[in-house]
Amino acid sequence: MKETSNFRTSFTEDLGAYLRRTDETALARAYDLGRRALAEKLGLLELVTLQHQALGRILARAEVDPATLGRIRAAQAFFIESLSPYEMTHRAFEDANAALYRINETLEAEVKRIAHLLHDEAGQLLVAVHIALDEISRDARPDVQRRCRNTRDILDQIERHLRDVSHELHPTVLDDLGLIPAFEFLAKGMSMRAGLRVAVEGAAGERLPPAIETALYHIVVEALTNVARHARASRATIRLERDASKVHCVVKDDGAGFDVKAVLSRRGQRGLGLAGIRERLKPLMGSVEISSAPARGTELSIEIPLRS
Ligand SMILES: Nc1ncnc2c1ncn2[C@@H]1O[C@H](COP(=O)(O)OP(=O)(O)O)[C@@H](O)[C@H]1O
Ligand SMILES: [Mg+2]
Repeated sequence: MKETSNFRTSFTEDLGAYLRRTDETALARAYDLGRRALAEKLGLLELVTLQHQALGRILARAEVDPATLGRIRAAQAFFIESLSPYEMTHRAFEDANAALYRINETLEAEVKRIAHLLHDEAGQLLVAVHIALDEISRDARPDVQRRCRNTRDILDQIERHLRDVSHELHPTVLDDLGLIPAFEFLAKGMSMRAGLRVAVEGAAGERLPPAIETALYHIVVEALTNVARHARASRATIRLERDASKVHCVVKDDGAGFDVKAVLSRRGQRGLGLAGIRERLKPLMGSVEISSAPARGTELSIEIPLRS
């Protein structure tokens, strides 16, 4: 409430200043007011009502005659009524966004549960099979022992495979330590597997909402996979920054680059990767900008707003 009354005062002052002197600087204050209104979750109707109250006060001070003031007030009421459908659409849009965000969180939690099931429970069952095989082979003939050993090798392969799939679905390092260590883990893997030097920049800081951490992790995996697969780069950088209102993540490489427009307009034939990055960002209201040119490397700049 206090916030709103401060806001009302600022609105009246800034509108008054603009009416006295209609220049760009005074007009820019209106943009700031709009941003503040959004941040304070003021609806469209509330904002318009504020504007009309402010105008009313300014006109009353200017001693406009009562009949004109009355007409202006009536026109304001009329205008506010006409805005109601917009307000409803705006609210419905916000509700839909919030629902999408919640569904995304539920799905991520479910993926995480499946990843743990695969890793822990399937892992324990495999241990039970190992023990049973040990028992069989203990008093068995040498050829049976050899077959048991072969079977154990296959079990080991299954276990490794399950661990990889589980990690791909949901990396435990992310849950335990957060994004920066998870990026460092990825960077190490990349340099070992693909000979690509990957630097990780950014302070670990506070943990981000799980849905954002998971999305960013998968996005960075996709971006680095692209670097390894297409860029012929020698170095890549992952940078993570955040402030009170958003997270900013950049993945860039010094490789061959590509014609972004041409690739993105290749509808139907393009890989799942870049499109998948966009899809992952949608429920989080995030965005990605890709800048790349042949022989100039590639930069993916991802921004995700933080909800207050
Ligand atoms: N870092 C990069 N360097 C060079 N080319 C890239 C890079 N990232 C993407 N590309 C180009 O964009 C195309 C689309 O990428 P993507 O959607 O991930 O599909 P995919 O990797 O399956 O081909 C790639 O085929 C490649 O030509
Ligand atoms: Mg790809």
